[in-house]
Amino acid sequence: MIKKILIFGKGFLGNRIAKSLDNTFLTEKRVSGDRAKLEDYLSEMYPDIVINAIGKTHGPGVPSIDWCEKNKKETMRSNVLAVYYLAEACARRGIYFVHLGSGCIYNGNNDGKGFSETDEPNFGLNREQFYATTKIQAERALKRLSKKYPDFKYLVLRLRMPIDDMPNERNLITKLLGYKELIDVPNSMTVVPYMMPAMKELMEKEKTGIFNLVNPGVISAADIMRLYKNLVDPSHEFDVISLMKLEQDLVQAKRSNCYLNTDKLKLSGIVLPDIRNGVIGCLTRYSKVS
Ligand SMILES: NC(=O)c1ccc[n+]([C@@H]2O[C@H](COP(=O)([O-])OP(=O)(O)OC[C@H]3O[C@@H](n4cnc5c(N)ncnc54)[C@H](OP(=O)(O)O)[C@@H]3O)[C@@H](O)[C@H]2O)c1
Repeated sequence: MIKKILIFGKGFLGNRIAKSLDNTFLTEKRVSGDRAKLEDYLSEMYPDIVINAIGKTHGPGVPSIDWCEKNKKETMRSNVLAVYYLAEACARRGIYFVHLGSGCIYNGNNDGKGFSETDEPNFGLNREQFYATTKIQAERALKRLSKKYPDFKYLVLRLRMPIDDMPNERNLITKLLGYKELIDVPNSMTVVPYMMPAMKELMEKEKTGIFNLVNPGVISAADIMRLYKNLVDPSHEFDVISLMKLEQDLVQAKRSNCYLNTDKLKLSGIVLPDIRNGVIGCLTRYSKVS
């Protein structure tokens, strides 16, 4: 049976998922504390799966998570409360709930092993960054809901720094092209064209729990632009700066830099290309459409 997928959150990823997966409907519906209205809407739409792509990752005039530091109430409403309301409505109706989480709740490489899905977050709990705090709280809210509704099926996909093959102000390539100064710290990242089939497969298998949905390996922002210089535009210039300078002079909140372990994804039969090869493919296609 073909499953009907309803996507909430009409932003970068909501639109991208709707374009890539079949049988989706991307709704503009706002999720608020009006639970009766939300349940009526779900009854009317009758989805098998709800994907939550709602979130506050930036805001007017501030194109980064620094916006969340000064707009905590709004960030909390979208990143935690909306998740809870939507998930609870799905739990009550037996709808499979897929949530876009973030891997930016870790810092470091966990002694070279990478952080797995069972490791406790080590970034965002001590006021380093409000966005990370809310992403942890959302995951905890889902865990609590699953205790209240034992049949509730939910999947959390932890993404990091999405890289796409088409220009978009939220695509990491587009963002990096706009920066004159970059850091050279290795990070796990999600290559969007590979995220889509992986997400589809996880949903078809009705997987539940948390999955690190990033490509294996690590790459830095400076590495990506070095590849851009080699493959696309040799005249592109940028300077490499330290993480300390970035955090002292250029951004407000601390940034998570981390390596996520992808063994669980692999054990589920999903093998994504290494991050460097994934980025090369994106850069090559990006240069043809930009
Ligand atoms: N992009 C990334 O780097 C990244 C990385 C890891 C995880 N994620 C997660 O993926 C999700 C989607 O991110 P994105 O990059 O697609 O962000 P985005 O482009 O800002 O899209 C988020 C959308 O959610 C909408 N929204 C906010 N509150 C809402 C509510 N209460 N009801 C309905 N819609 C609401 C926003 O609308 P308004 O702006 O009009 O409020 C916006 O259209 C977020 O949860 C984010 O944390 C993103």
